[in-house]
Amino acid sequence: MSVLLSAQGLKLAFGGVKAADGIDLDVMEGEFLAIIGPNGAGKTTFINMTTGYLKPQAGRITYRGQSLLGLSPRRIVDLGVARSFQLPQLFTEHTVLENVALAIAAREGVWSPFAPLLRPAFRREAEEVLARFGLEALAERRGDALNEGARKLADIAMAVALRPRLLLMDEPTSGVAAADKMGVVETLVRVLREAKVTAVFVEHDMEVVARFADRVAVWGQGRIMALGPPQQVLNDPQVLRDVIGIAPQEAGHAPA
Ligand SMILES: Nc1ncnc2c1ncn2[C@@H]1O[C@H](COP(=O)(O)OP(=O)(O)O)[C@@H](O)[C@H]1O
Ligand SMILES: [Mg+2]
Repeated sequence: MSVLLSAQGLKLAFGGVKAADGIDLDVMEGEFLAIIGPNGAGKTTFINMTTGYLKPQAGRITYRGQSLLGLSPRRIVDLGVARSFQLPQLFTEHTVLENVALAIAAREGVWSPFAPLLRPAFRREAEEVLARFGLEALAERRGDALNEGARKLADIAMAVALRPRLLLMDEPTSGVAAADKMGVVETLVRVLREAKVTAVFVEHDMEVVARFADRVAVWGQGRIMALGPPQQVLNDPQVLRDVIGIAPQEAGHAPA
């Protein structure tokens, strides 16, 4: 397996808070890498630095050997690195189909307020993407008329429509009803595996991590405290004490 994304020595402080304090991480092509760790550990900051939303104060990030530093989020998407957010970014006044068609138009570089939203080719492709997610029945629903599980999947469908090779997902199951959670994850894992997309995902549910992650990285205070296969990391006494002992609802939820 080859290295798809490589972070070396990433540092970023906000005032006195070290959100990244020397992050070294290689993401291997084809893997599903889970990021766990308490709130405020710097998980979202890592995704923000990787996708061009924040610039590290030190360190390097390369994707397929090319530096991502200083590139805009848009340019990074064009290179094949997409993301989804903790709070879905759907346009709530548009339908699910329109949202995915918008992502396709953006990918093709033809989106403008004056362009027809649903060119036939974009509509067809958007329908095809939604079918992969089992969302075809919700295609004409407005973004604000979805339950959280469907909203998360629709948001990820928009990211997949960008045809990434690497997708970073910030808490894809947060806010999803417990009864829907495994179904949501099974769907997105199936779609991403079929499309051969490498995935990095922040997750608080250890059952999801144990079942779907190839490797787990444990974040704490801007550092990676442990990294390895789930059966090893999730049984590490220190990880059990410092991370898994902290239920996410106890730690509260930081804004996306
Ligand atoms: N844009 C920002 N401005 C100031 N502080 C920030 C910003 N983004 C994150 N932080 C701080 O950096 C730390 C790590 O945040 P974050 O990466 O969101 O953690 P996590 O996603 O693991 O909960 C927190 O203390 C947070 O308050
Ligand atoms: Mg976060």
